[in-house]
Amino acid sequence: MVKVDVEKCIGCGTCAADCNIFSITIKDGKAVPGKWCLECGHCTAVCKEKAVTLLGDYDPSEVLEYDNPETFGIAPDRLLNFVKFRRSIRQFTDDPVSDADIAHILEMGRYTQTGANFQPLRYIVLTKETLQEITPIALKTLAELDVKNVDKKAMRVPYQYLDFQSTWIKWYQVYQKTKRDLLFHGAPNALLIVSRTCNEVDGCFNTGHLDLMINALGLGACLMGFGTFVFAMSPELKQRVGIQEGESVIFMMVFGHPNVKYLRTVSRKKVRYEKI
Ligand SMILES: Cc1cc2nc3c(=O)[nH]c(=O)nc-3n(C[C@H](O)[C@H](O)[C@H](O)COP(=O)(O)O)c2cc1C
Repeated sequence: MVKVDVEKCIGCGTCAADCNIFSITIKDGKAVPGKWCLECGHCTAVCKEKAVTLLGDYDPSEVLEYDNPETFGIAPDRLLNFVKFRRSIRQFTDDPVSDADIAHILEMGRYTQTGANFQPLRYIVLTKETLQEITPIALKTLAELDVKNVDKKAMRVPYQYLDFQSTWIKWYQVYQKTKRDLLFHGAPNALLIVSRTCNEVDGCFNTGHLDLMINALGLGACLMGFGTFVFAMSPELKQRVGIQEGESVIFMMVFGHPNVKYLRTVSRKKVRYEKI
């Protein structure tokens, strides 16, 4: 919900014109908010008079004024080069990511848009100790999984069509012999993106933004399809990290300080594209 300060409101209708669900009306020269509200904040951001504020679990003191394009803009070519240079990182130093950097990463997630502004996600940050504890459970789960008979929907990724299981068995053997972790790449931290809704798009989109911030901080990440999958398959893992009934791990990523240096970008296949 939003609140309109009638002293400040001049009834210009800018907020009503920009309301996605036509909730705001102008009556007697003042904006009147309707009952249904996505709490997207467009009306608060567009009002020249600063007459509209969001009610509820929102902190008005964190609102930033658009006073300098340099603060908010990003040059397209730099953005593209940033994405081109980003790599999945699978070699990490042992140093944990600082709490300040973790806060920055999560702030990126908090501000990433969600369908109908539902904001359904929560995060679990795994420390090295927790990762070390869950690694053997995860590797054993994958190595012993009856892949061909796993419910395809629960599996979400069609791993049964590819021979990943022999790889997982080898990974578990390597782990048992040497303690080397080929699943989570020995990372010092991991992030679980957790949701109660079935809208996986929110979680996946959020993951991409988190990955960008991780890289902007000079850290590195690797998205974990296998890691996500193993959380879907193992009630023991879910319980260990506190996944509640009805929740699922939408995505998992490992992250930390890279122990590898890339010197150039790589090539990609040509874009498939048509204009119709
Ligand atoms: C949805 C998704 C799932 C992935 N799962 C894994 C994984 O389980 N293990 C892994 O080492 N890399 C994983 N990756 C990383 C991809 O292998 C990697 O993005 C791809 O090879 C391109 O390399 P780049 O990220 O360095 O550009 C995943 C990437 C995506 C987007």
